[in-house]
Amino acid sequence: MSIVSDDNDFEIVKNVREETIKPEVCDFDRNFENCIRPKTFETYIGQSALKETLKISIEAAKRRELPLDHALFYGPPGLGKTTLAGVIAEQMGVEIKITAAPALERPRDIIGILMSLKGGQILFIDEIHRLNKVAEEILYPAMEDFFLDMTTGKIQTVKTLRIALPKFTLIGATTKAGELSGPLRDRFGIVHRLEFYSEDELTRVIKRTAGILEIEITEEGAQAVAKRSRGTPRIANRLVKRVSDYALVKHDGKITQDIANTALNALKIDDFGLDNTDRMLLRLIIEKYDGGPVGVETIAAALGEDVRTIEDVCEPYLLQAGLLQRTPRGRKVSPEACRHLGYENFTDQQNLF
Ligand code: ADE
Repeated sequence: MSIVSDDNDFEIVKNVREETIKPEVCDFDRNFENCIRPKTFETYIGQSALKETLKISIEAAKRRELPLDHALFYGPPGLGKTTLAGVIAEQMGVEIKITAAPALERPRDIIGILMSLKGGQILFIDEIHRLNKVAEEILYPAMEDFFLDMTTGKIQTVKTLRIALPKFTLIGATTKAGELSGPLRDRFGIVHRLEFYSEDELTRVIKRTAGILEIEITEEGAQAVAKRSRGTPRIANRLVKRVSDYALVKHDGKITQDIANTALNALKIDDFGLDNTDRMLLRLIIEKYDGGPVGVETIAAALGEDVRTIEDVCEPYLLQAGLLQRTPRGRKVSPEACRHLGYENFTDQQNLF
């Protein structure tokens, strides 16, 4: 496909500013996530199978003196897709440019960023399922043969340009692999799903983060936070910070099992790691829809949330924890969800299932 742009647009493309991500200066309060991001495979906890295959691909790319194949990471949010892309860049010894599909709305956005790449660099596109058709079609030849086809000027004075790009690696991340178009998906040589973390892995993530933030935490304290972190390091890291605030204000700053549990109860995070929204969602299905099935649009409207938040943020863990089921006719709660929320008698009386 060729991209028609007027001369003005083309000027903008040529003058695109360099936006390579530089190592961040750590400001714990404002830039918490970047400060604690692991930079190497050794410090990146979990996803062992994926790490092993990536290490081999990276070593092979280095020996061939070629960039790494394009890679697609998918799975629920907060499992470390961006972090992993940063680790790969570090391991390859190249710079990474980070963007997200909603920032690539106009052709010149994607053209600009592609033309600003230097040989071997990594382009990371988050939420890649949200790329529009035009941007996707610009990406195809860029990914496959490292060139851009562009036409510039008005209709009578059209000039066609084929612009060679340096060889680069595209890393795409998505929470919705199913929404990626087939042709785009097929252009990734490495495609991997990130899995939820075990409690043991989350305990290690929490102890590492506590170490960086100079938070004192016992093994049992870390386990208590891990247990309620929904298999997700991003949540674990946020909770450890909130629990640490509580420990500092109400006690001596040290996180023990008791302090962690008291603080998490105060935050209304329950034993399963569910928050108010999760519980409201399950209660709604139980009380108003006899346990389901009910469509996600109906659930979202009743909760005043958007469908995307329900699907991308709440549901993945509820599904994985076996509290919610997806059926062709909508969402259903499981007997375990009823038990967890204290609806045992309700289950019998209302013939929920
Ligand atoms: N913080 C977020 N994700 C992490 C991971 N996988 N390992 C260590 N720390 C993390």
